[in-house]
Amino acid sequence: MRGMISSRASLWLAVGLLVAATASYAASAADDGAAEYKARCASCHGESGAGDGPAAAAMRTRPPDLRRLAKSNDGVFPDKVLATVIDGRKTIRAHGTFEMPVWGRQLSQSVGDGDASKRIAAIVGYLRSIQLK
Ligand code: HEC
Repeated sequence: MRGMISSRASLWLAVGLLVAATASYAASAADDGAAEYKARCASCHGESGAGDGPAAAAMRTRPPDLRRLAKSNDGVFPDKVLATVIDGRKTIRAHGTFEMPVWGRQLSQSVGDGDASKRIAAIVGYLRSIQLK
């Protein structure tokens, strides 16, 4: 149990450092969903969205393939649900073991609430653009 807790803690630390290191870069690309995705999501979900980022191997739950969100939802891109998954309103409470950072909180702290929802919308727009047909 102990080992598991500390390896999770170091994963979070790594993610925290990653976010800190990329925050200034992301700030200069405020509305650019692709840049935001690469800065905040690709480490786990992969450059292409396939779920094969460098941090994925260390996770207990493999990050899902984000190119299949529409496919696995009867061909409808679930944009409203996505925004709540990304900002952390959904799932965090439902799954005690949710392994994804709560971006709403992180973004709100670094750029303020209004900007945070714009950035999440930009990321959702980018995800829409990478859906497989
Ligand atoms: C630390 C690794 C990590 C990072 C960084 C990360 N995710 Fe995730 N993400 C996961 C994992 C793991 C899951 C699966 C969680 C679960 O099932 O409990 C997930 C789940 C998701 C889901 C749910 C997909 C579904 O089919 O329900 C979406 C959407 C998502 N991530 C989008 C993003 C976006 C957008 C970003 C960047 C803002 C991001 N993720 C950053 C690890 C990460």
